[in-house]
Amino acid sequence: MTEQPPRAVGRRQLLGVSMSTAGVIALAACDNPQRRGDQPAADEVPVTPPEDLMREHGVLKRVLLIYREGLRRLQAGDELPAHALNAGAAIIRSFIEDYHEQLEEQHVFPKLEQAGKLADVTAVLRTQHQRGRVLTDRVLAATGSASALDQAKRDALAQDMSVFIRMYEPHEAREDTVVFPTLRQVVPAKEFRDMADIFEDEEHRRFGQAGFEGIVDKVADIEKDLGIYDLSQFTPS
Ligand SMILES: [Fe+2]
Ligand SMILES: [Fe+2]
Repeated sequence: MTEQPPRAVGRRQLLGVSMSTAGVIALAACDNPQRRGDQPAADEVPVTPPEDLMREHGVLKRVLLIYREGLRRLQAGDELPAHALNAGAAIIRSFIEDYHEQLEEQHVFPKLEQAGKLADVTAVLRTQHQRGRVLTDRVLAATGSASALDQAKRDALAQDMSVFIRMYEPHEAREDTVVFPTLRQVVPAKEFRDMADIFEDEEHRRFGQAGFEGIVDKVADIEKDLGIYDLSQFTPS
C-alpha cells in the first residue's frame, strides 16, 4: 500500500442518507478513523464538484509527469519503460477520458452553455477531449506491443506523448481557474449538492469501494516503478 490521503467523505455520508452506494459507504466508513460509530465526525466536510474534478486533474497531472519521464528516457536513447507508460495511458483512458471527461461533458459544460457562459471555451475543451482519445489510442498501442519499437515508432510515441502533455497542461489549468469557478456561480446550491452526489455515485460505480484513492495508489505504483515517486528528489539543493 502506498501513502493514503485522508479518505474524503461524500455529502451523503454526512447526511447519513442511504442510496445506491450505501453498502460501499458503510464499508468506507468502517475504515475511516475519523468516524465514530454511525455518526459522521463533526470535522468531516463534503467534497464539492469542483474539488472532486480538480483532484482528478491531480491524477491527470501525475500521469503527465509519468509521460514526461518516458519522454526523457526516449530522448536519451534509454530503454522504453513500456509497461509503466501503458499503465499510465490505461489510467488516462479509464479514469480521465471515460469518467472525468464524461462528467464534464454531461454535467459541467451543459450548465455553462445553458447559462450563456464560456461556450467558446467549452467547444475547445470538447474538441481537445476527442483529440486526447486519439493520442491515447496510439500510446496504448505503441506501449502494449510485446516487441521492441524501432526508432521511427519511438519517435512517433515521443511525439504523441509530447503533444498530449502540451494540450492537457493548459486544458486542465483553464478548467481549474475558469470553468469550475464559473460552474459554482451558475449552478444553484441544491443542484450543486446533488451534482456532488451524482459524481460520488459514479466514482464508486466505476471504481468500486477504493474509488479515487485506489486510482491514486495505482499512479503511485507506476511512479515507484519509474523512480519518480519520492518527492524529495525534486527539491533543489
Ligand atoms: Fe476537460
Ligand atoms: Fe478536466
